[in-house]
Amino acid sequence: MRTVFKDEKVLKNCKIAQMLQNQPPHLSFHTPGHKAFGWDITELTYSDNLASPTGCIAEAEKDIASLLGAQKSFILTDGSTSGVLSMLYAAKSLGVKRILTSENAHKSVFNGCAALGLELLLYPTKISKKIPLPPTMYALKCEYPSLLEGADALLFTSPDYYGNVADLSNIRAYCDQTKKLLLIDGAHGGHLHFHKEIYAGAYADMWVDGVHKSLPAFTQGAVVSARTGVCADALQKGVDIFRTTSPSYPIMASVEYAVKYPQNTELEKQVKAFAGNPRIYQNTDWTKLCALVGKNAFTVEKILQNEGIYAEFCDGNVLCFYLSPATELTDFERLKNRLKSLFLEFPLTVDEEKDGAQAVRMELLDGKTEWLPLDEAVGQVSAAFCGLFPPCTPLLLRGEVITNEKIDLFKRATHTFGLKNGKIAVWKGAKKE
Ligand SMILES: Cc1ncc(COP(=O)(O)O)c(C=O)c1O
Repeated sequence: MRTVFKDEKVLKNCKIAQMLQNQPPHLSFHTPGHKAFGWDITELTYSDNLASPTGCIAEAEKDIASLLGAQKSFILTDGSTSGVLSMLYAAKSLGVKRILTSENAHKSVFNGCAALGLELLLYPTKISKKIPLPPTMYALKCEYPSLLEGADALLFTSPDYYGNVADLSNIRAYCDQTKKLLLIDGAHGGHLHFHKEIYAGAYADMWVDGVHKSLPAFTQGAVVSARTGVCADALQKGVDIFRTTSPSYPIMASVEYAVKYPQNTELEKQVKAFAGNPRIYQNTDWTKLCALVGKNAFTVEKILQNEGIYAEFCDGNVLCFYLSPATELTDFERLKNRLKSLFLEFPLTVDEEKDGAQAVRMELLDGKTEWLPLDEAVGQVSAAFCGLFPPCTPLLLRGEVITNEKIDLFKRATHTFGLKNGKIAVWKGAKKE
């Protein structure tokens, strides 16, 4: 069994882990109910309190803020989801009413805006070679000037699921010019603090680092940070609402450990060398190794799984392998060598570039929905955000016409969201020819 906390030197420098390692032995008449005693404890006289930290957690958050270049960082044990919700709450409390974001934002953005009464201004996600691309500021200005103008704040996912990075310096310049807030969902980018030129924290007013995805933290470990004191105060109110009142100490300790984990330059070098292979997608974030497999993607995924190799996700075209600084070099080499032989076995056919989503205007729809079996839904208009899981971005937007191709992907995927018992919600009577 491999352990998360494998680097003793890093561990010695972690305030929360040190507190946990040096606990006085005692009988547990406190939560949690398993009574096992160990790192999974609660707020005791010596263990500080995430909600109002003054001891080891306060010190850990201070260290994290300093490493991430933040005015204030908050440890989260409920995933990036709670960070996104807290950022949206903070933005609203700072006067934001309308947020510009992409159609392929994470579902927490859609849910948060709906719950908080924030208006979403969605720009269509550009797709090239079946892979969604982040927008450039130039394209937004040219193609969606009124959306841009109408927004009080901009929210971008960077890096995204495929390792593409937003046009951060131009976006920052626009926000400075127009005094608009910039929020970045960096759920996949915690490791990028080693690369400040593409790190969310070097540009955003508030940002989330989902450290559990690309740094060695337990699942649900994340950080949300603010660049200025004003944003930090607003964000404090957000996290007070959206964080659990029973934060997990092992997760908190792992978040501090993950942020303090060193850069793995040797692995990065080797991954970047392999990324020169024409069957590897040319992205910016080295931790997202996207193999271009085409129509055989699900077959190749199965072959690898039978050999004990699991990718993060397969979208029916790309097999995406997620790495981190804690990935063992020998594991990467095994993956690389196996991919090289599979690329020969399954040559690529050229796939057509695909247009963006064909959406219909929501206000034209009458609000009545029904659940249809997948095969009967082709040509109907989707009434829900639904997609493959992961990555948990909508493959179908509410109001988008359902195509055969997307139904086929749903039928072949192991995990989905937004569907129910093999059925999909559609708007009655809104069928498009
Ligand atoms: C872009 C993005 N934002 C936010 C989240 C939510 O993160 P978490 O699952 O840690 O709550 C995810 C999760 O997949 C994501 O991909």
